Amino acid sequence: MTTHRIAVIPGDGIGQEVTPAALEVLDAVGRRHDVTFAYTPLDWSCARYRREGAMMPEDGIERLRAHDAVFLGAVGAPGVPDHVSLWGLLIPVRRAFRQYVNLRPVRVFEGLESPLRTAGPGDVDLVVVRENTEGEYSEIGGRLHRGFPEEMAVQEAVFTRAGVTRVLDYAFGRAGRRAGRLTSATKSNGIVHTMPFWDELVRERAAEHPKVAWDQEHIDALCAKVVLDPGRFDVIVASNLFGDILSDLTAAVAGSIGIAPSANLNPERAYPSMFEPVHGSAPDIAGRGIANPVGAVWSAALMLDHLGHERAGAEVVAAIAATLAATDVRTPDLGGSATTEEFTRAVIARL
Ligand code: NAD
Ligand code: IPM
Ligand code: MN
Repeated sequence: MTTHRIAVIPGDGIGQEVTPAALEVLDAVGRRHDVTFAYTPLDWSCARYRREGAMMPEDGIERLRAHDAVFLGAVGAPGVPDHVSLWGLLIPVRRAFRQYVNLRPVRVFEGLESPLRTAGPGDVDLVVVRENTEGEYSEIGGRLHRGFPEEMAVQEAVFTRAGVTRVLDYAFGRAGRRAGRLTSATKSNGIVHTMPFWDELVRERAAEHPKVAWDQEHIDALCAKVVLDPGRFDVIVASNLFGDILSDLTAAVAGSIGIAPSANLNPERAYPSMFEPVHGSAPDIAGRGIANPVGAVWSAALMLDHLGHERAGAEVVAAIAATLAATDVRTPDLGGSATTEEFTRAVIARL
């Protein structure tokens, strides 16, 4: 019997609804594999911020560190500025734990309709590897200059040789274990000064991974190609902001942002990794019990992979796929009328 210690932060909005769904599925699949999870529930959220003036306690990072992994729902609530909720919890965790890879797989499941004609079931199976700790999301130089008519906001984008190299190596390695194709999202026509450096490092790392076929696309053209022919992509590696945008785009291509999972990984395992759906707290549907739990449940499957239970992880993804292929149980974002709970039951029944 293996027990993993998991810090659980449901957070805000639908984070409170999809997190229990993911834990139920984890417990169910764990029973089949002799794995148990010791959850530490943490109420870190905008509600806590309103109550106590901070999203998490001062020793929050230390407390998370004592766990094998972190599971997060989503943070963000109307009335609390997003920069408070995000810089107060999500971003510090990604940084403190050197979760420099944000892995975001995308599949068009059988039984789901992509809004695109070009993306039938089985046609799309790609992953976005997003740089997750630097780039456009840097803390350096972020300032709003007020007090004169030409107000301005500035922020430095930071691309370090070490930071870019490590995420590229991860992406090339992942491509090598998949279909062997890597696309680098760039904007190297000289307007964005950081990108020629990114490209230079891509060429450098490509030489170390000769079996991977790679190319690069300007981010604007890449968005168009993802819409026109998503099936051609295997691994897409991108900077923090480009990867953020691409992963909502690819999620929508697969049918709904509600189904997209993510793994914030520290590949060296020196720190806990964090698993969370790609979507946010969705205040527009929160509290109604109709959020799609697939993104959270699939994120739990990514956590199982990371913890060394790949078979259990694959079973969870297979149960999601079977539910979508063999039933018409769907949440409203996918055109159905099932609740979060009903969909979760259907997945557990197929484990
Ligand atoms: P969002 O992902 O919360 O919602 C975008 C749209 O997608 C909404 O219409 C929502 O109803 C729908 N949607 C999202 N997830 C869904 C699901 N599981 N099932 C069905 N429909 C779903 O993005 P947003 O509106 O840009 O942001 C809302 C809040 O969430 C903001 O405060 C934002 O900062 C925060 N946010 C947090 C995270 C995170 O914690 N990781 C990620 C993204 C956004
Ligand atoms: C995501 C989210 C976050 C990001 C926001 C909420 C800071 O959009 O995880 O994709 O941009 O990283
Ligand atoms: Mn995002």
